[in-house]
Amino acid sequence: MKKTILSGSTVTGNLTLGNYIGAISNWTKLQNEYDCLYFLADLHALTVQQDPKILKDRIYSFYAQYLALGLDPQKNTIFVQSQVPYHTELSWILTCLTPMGYLNRMTQFKEKAERHVKNVNAGLFTYPVLMAADILLYQVDMVPVGEDQRQHMELARDIVGFWENRYGPGIFKLPEAYVGKVGARIMSLQDPSKKMSKSDDNEKNFIAIIDDPKVVEKKIKSATTDSDTVVKYDLENKAGLANLMNIYSVMTGKSFEEIEKLYEGKMYGHLKVDLAEIVVSTLTPVREKYLDLMKNQDYLDKLMNEGAMKAEARSEATLKKVYEATGLVPRKR
Ligand code: TRP
Repeated sequence: MKKTILSGSTVTGNLTLGNYIGAISNWTKLQNEYDCLYFLADLHALTVQQDPKILKDRIYSFYAQYLALGLDPQKNTIFVQSQVPYHTELSWILTCLTPMGYLNRMTQFKEKAERHVKNVNAGLFTYPVLMAADILLYQVDMVPVGEDQRQHMELARDIVGFWENRYGPGIFKLPEAYVGKVGARIMSLQDPSKKMSKSDDNEKNFIAIIDDPKVVEKKIKSATTDSDTVVKYDLENKAGLANLMNIYSVMTGKSFEEIEKLYEGKMYGHLKVDLAEIVVSTLTPVREKYLDLMKNQDYLDKLMNEGAMKAEARSEATLKKVYEATGLVPRKR
């Protein structure tokens, strides 16, 4: 029996080179060895204000990008969260088991509440419970997530405990977080002390998977670097350059020493020009496949439907047990 993996992205902003290197490129490697579920967390996106038209376009766009990046809908279950109503059903039941105090401690909630002062809605607060439901529905073994989601993963595990204290063991599998290597963490191009974020307001901070090649070039060339010229990996004193070297290294398989050698006697500019070419040549086929998929919305709808049906069929058994354990009466079908 293959182990089960589940992960998702909130449908906000743009999928970036950071998402590709830090997450999605790993997902495509995992798809042969594991039983994988990948989904778009569109309900999580609603915790911040969304323009309905933009959200809808973005759901199609992210789905098409998952496919264009190499996730195979035959090998994996690729679906949209809101198309499987069991997520919200389980989320409510788990919400009723989760103490406010635990949610109050979530650093992401505190940050977001500060960032969106005018929209501190209850969904922002219960966000991690929905995330726990996403995971617990599928008896998942492993959840690949970024460092920023580690605390939410801990909570998901705590929630299994709250459930078992009340209703006894045997329904949910305890999921493990799988936090990737530090090297896979790509930083913002203009401020290398921050992670490259897909929801960044400043477009110059990230490279979107679907950015035009000209734009990619421009963004890399204008990435912040220090005033020295020697190409040397020095995270502390040359954080901007280190970030570019990191991208260079993961995309070419070359070590930092090899890159340093390659640019001996040359300037940062040379490295930037080459890096832009490397990134563009990796992303161009993805972008072309993406643009092609986006022309055929019926096809995307069909794949989404199939994904949702697979996900629903897989999560049904868990929800049925939950209904039984809690004393709810499932509808006879
Ligand atoms: N909160 C995650 C993020 O922003 C997305 C997400 C929602 C998720 N539900 C999940 C990730 C379940 C892993 C498992 O990155």
